[in-house]
Amino acid sequence: MRDQADRLREMALNLKQEIEAEIRRDLRYSRVVVISSGKGGVGKSTLALNLSLNLCARGMKIILMDADMGLANLDVMLGLVTKFNIYHIVQQKKSMEEITISGPEGLKIIPGGSGISELANLENTELKRILVELRKLDGAYDYMIIDTGAGISKSVMNFLLAAEDIIVITTPEPTAITDAYSLVKNVAKNSFAGSIYLVVNKVANDSEGILVAEKFKLVCQKFLSCEIKPLGHIVNEPLIGEGIRRQKAFVQIYPRSTATRNINTIVDRLIEASGQKSPGLESKRGGIRYFIEKIAGLVK
Ligand SMILES: Nc1ncnc2c1ncn2[C@@H]1O[C@H](COP(=O)(O)OP(=O)(O)OP(=O)(O)O)[C@@H](O)[C@H]1O
Ligand SMILES: [Mg+2]
Repeated sequence: MRDQADRLREMALNLKQEIEAEIRRDLRYSRVVVISSGKGGVGKSTLALNLSLNLCARGMKIILMDADMGLANLDVMLGLVTKFNIYHIVQQKKSMEEITISGPEGLKIIPGGSGISELANLENTELKRILVELRKLDGAYDYMIIDTGAGISKSVMNFLLAAEDIIVITTPEPTAITDAYSLVKNVAKNSFAGSIYLVVNKVANDSEGILVAEKFKLVCQKFLSCEIKPLGHIVNEPLIGEGIRRQKAFVQIYPRSTATRNINTIVDRLIEASGQKSPGLESKRGGIRYFIEKIAGLVK
């Protein structure tokens, strides 16, 4: 008799704990950061990967989505093999767990592939199913980092407008800066309500990085009434190319390089700016669910 009462009490306690965990998961959400550039080849994927690994090394849970519809390549950068992407979820062939691949430091990667543009053609019931799959990620990760293709195609724009945080990356080259400015202009024109950050890549030295960022910030302030938050810069480091050849991120193989220190500063500032030090209860706007719902609305 006593045994049975104990068992019942234990079951009730387990149930209570499960419900509480479920409620906590519902209240927490992942911060969505989209990395983009005007010009191609300026270092989006390099930044996305190394920034994600730096966050992982700080004990955060990170999911990195490769949303480059053209040449998605984060898996190749790490020498990982992928067969599936979001397209396979859209086609009802795979679940989110089945397409997610594991990188170093506990990093999880979702290959986006062509599946993202497919979202536009889905019926409501199908779309709902994907949203349910993606929402499962919310709260399970501190950040979702999204690496996009270059430029202001409609799909990239949809991603940017749905995000809470956008990191625009450029090099000091005038053409890259002009294209980055056009990107910011387009985002601002569409009344983007989140934060826009800037990273200057491939700089010769600290002064060049600071100068380019400050000039960019001023021009955006003056002509677009848009507040840009510089996160820092990354030096031009030939070893980064070596990392790519070895299919390893540079923060892994060159932990003491200047470029790794630069990434560390960028991440410090991002965490400070996005107030993610203690992820927890947040507003309704935000998270993967908001992001996906917004994209679905934008692509319809
Ligand atoms: N700080 C740096 N120093 C030296 N080389 C770099 C640096 N950052 C990136 N690179 C190199 O520049 C090239 C382009 O980088 P990456 O692929 O990250 O750019 P991307 O913006 O993602 O390009 P795409 O527009 O094609 O997606 C790569 O060969 C990479 O190794
Ligand atoms: Mg890329």
